[in-house]
Order: sequence, then structure tokens, then C-alpha cells
Amino acid sequence: MRCLGLEGTAHTLGIGIVDDGGRVLANRGEMYRPDVGGIHPREAANHHADRLRPVLRATLREADLQLRDLDLIAFSQGPGLGPSLRTVATAARALSLSLGLPIVGVNHCIAHVEIGRAVTPARDPVLLYLSGGNTQVISHARGRYRVLGETLDIGLGNLLDKVGRTLGFPFPAGPEIERRARGGKELLPLPYSVKGMDVAFSGILTAAQALRAKDASVEDLCFSLQETTFAMVTEVAERAMAHLGKKEILLGGGVACNERLRTMVGAMAKARETRMFVPPKTLCVDNGAMIAWTGILMHNAGLDLAIEETEVHQNMRTDAAEAPWVTEGAEPG
Ligand code: ATP
Ligand code: FE2
Repeated sequence: MRCLGLEGTAHTLGIGIVDDGGRVLANRGEMYRPDVGGIHPREAANHHADRLRPVLRATLREADLQLRDLDLIAFSQGPGLGPSLRTVATAARALSLSLGLPIVGVNHCIAHVEIGRAVTPARDPVLLYLSGGNTQVISHARGRYRVLGETLDIGLGNLLDKVGRTLGFPFPAGPEIERRARGGKELLPLPYSVKGMDVAFSGILTAAQALRAKDASVEDLCFSLQETTFAMVTEVAERAMAHLGKKEILLGGGVACNERLRTMVGAMAKARETRMFVPPKTLCVDNGAMIAWTGILMHNAGLDLAIEETEVHQNMRTDAAEAPWVTEGAEPG
């Protein structure tokens, strides 16, 4: 079986094809980049509408397949920005109806866990999911995926991008912050706000902007930003592992590309005698392959949708539905 997966929760349009052995046959994406400022939902949706056909064609070419070779259509049903979600869902419906193929609606956050389980040895991990819009600690417990901790305000990547904008870095700022942080020497005081299993970043943004206004060195600021925020998310991830007795930690989202984050989380995992896994970069960021693969798991669990059930859910909850295909307590493969 081959599934076409369409991702469109935010500013990335991703289209991937995965087979039922978990092999990624193609994975293409294009990101809407605003000229100035943040992402405008309507413009992101227009970008996805404009680019859908060329990206679909490139994906099929990469897999050396035709539309008639597909068996299943999967799309990101939520959570995300309404206009982007609706645009990509409309394309998914059109493909399903015109090709006569079953359709499944995938939770974007769960897809980040599932692609990690497919391409790394992780079997029953705690996912530390750090992207622009999302900062969540997710794991499977009693039949479904649950959010154990999350940001109370903005996503970690969004914080990095906002501080980066203050410093004049291009969007997305994460890679440049990582580069400049290597030259940092002094740990500047930034608020460390962990509240139970949750974290908050907006106070750090204000403090970082104030430090910059007082001429703090850019290197020290980037270094301090990474040390403080990565320690915060590592702490909540560790607490989740301890509470649930999980032996694997999986990284996902664009911030997972960061080497310092990997080193910090890796050290925590080692100290607990557990293991850390990180998918390749193209599968850490938003992508269509993760939607396609989760679509196959859901289809096999009998979770196809009728067309009337394919409306998008901007606030789709991670624990809204059972994920019966996961075996809790499974050892790394
Ligand atoms: P989502 O819709 O899931 O919130 P997203 O649209 O933000 O995802 P991703 O590609 O998963 O997209 O993540 C992008 C974020 O990752 C940006 O905020 C970017 O700054 C950050 N990022 C990318 N590379 C690095 C890096 N090396 N270090 C830190 N952050 C990084
Ligand atoms: Fe994402």
C-alpha cells in the first residue's frame, strides 16, 4: 500500500509518499516565507493553493509513480491555522473523490511521533516536540497520545525567531542563533520559567530584548537563550519520562536540528540510562511523509473518514482519539 500525505497546518506545504513498510518514497515541501514580519494565515493558504500542483507533481516524479499507483490519501486535519488547513484539506478531498481512494485525517502532533517511531528504533518514546508554533511533551499512555507538558504562551522556535528579529537575523533565526551561541562566554540572567510540567517563554523574550537594549553581546545573548530554554524543556521532558517510566526520548520539530539541544537532551537520557533518538532533519520539520505514514497506521486501525467527516479542526487535541496501534512498554527495535 502507498499513501500520499498532505501537510498544511502552518507555513509549510509538504507532500510525501510512504509505503506500508514505512519506507519514504518521496518527500517534498515548500515553505511560505513572508517578506517582512510574521506569518499571515491567508497568505500562507494562498501559497499552499498556488504551489500544490507543482509540489504534487515533483513528489510523484521523485517516487517515480503516477496518481493511479496510490492507495490512500492522508491529510493534516489539525491543529493549525484555519486557512492553511482548509486549503490542503480541500485538495485531499478532491484527490480522494477523483481517484476513488479512502481518506484519513491525521493529527499533526501525533504524526511527529509516528515518523520518529518509523525511522528510528524508538518504540514507546516521550516526544519532545519543539517547533515554531508548538512546544509540547507528548507520550502514549493508556491507549492514546497525551500532552504531558506544553508552553503556556509562545512556541520555543517562535521565541528564537522573535529574538532573532530583534538582532536583525533572517527568518527562521534558529540556525543563526545556534551559530552565534558558539561564541558566547557569559550566561546572562534570563527568567527560567518552568511551572509544573509546563514552560513559558514570553518573559524571556522581554528580558532578552531588554538585555539587547543595554548592549549585551549578541554571542552571549544567543548562548544564554539556548542554555536557559533548552534546560527548561529538558527538565520537563525528564520529568515526563520519570512519571511514565519511559526509556526513550524522541526529538521532533525544527528546533530539534539544534546540536546544543541534542547534546543537552542526550546527556539527560544517558544519565537516566535511557536512549535519545532524532529523525533526519527533513522528517523533523513539518513534512508530508509523516502525515502519509500516520495515515497508513490509522487506515490499518479502521480509522478512514467519510467525506462529511473531513472538516478541519484548528484546535484538534492530541488526546482526542485512541491510538490503538502503539504497544506501550515496547522495547527499542
Ligand atoms: P509547526 O507548524 O509544527 O509549529 P513550524 O512551521 O514552526 O512547525 P518547523 O520547521 O518544525 O516549522 O520549525 C521551524 C522552527 O525551527 C523555527 O522557529 C526555526 O527558528 C527553528 N529552527 C530551525 N533550525 C534550528 C536550529 N538549528 N536551532 C534552533 N532552532 C531552529
Ligand atoms: Fe510541526
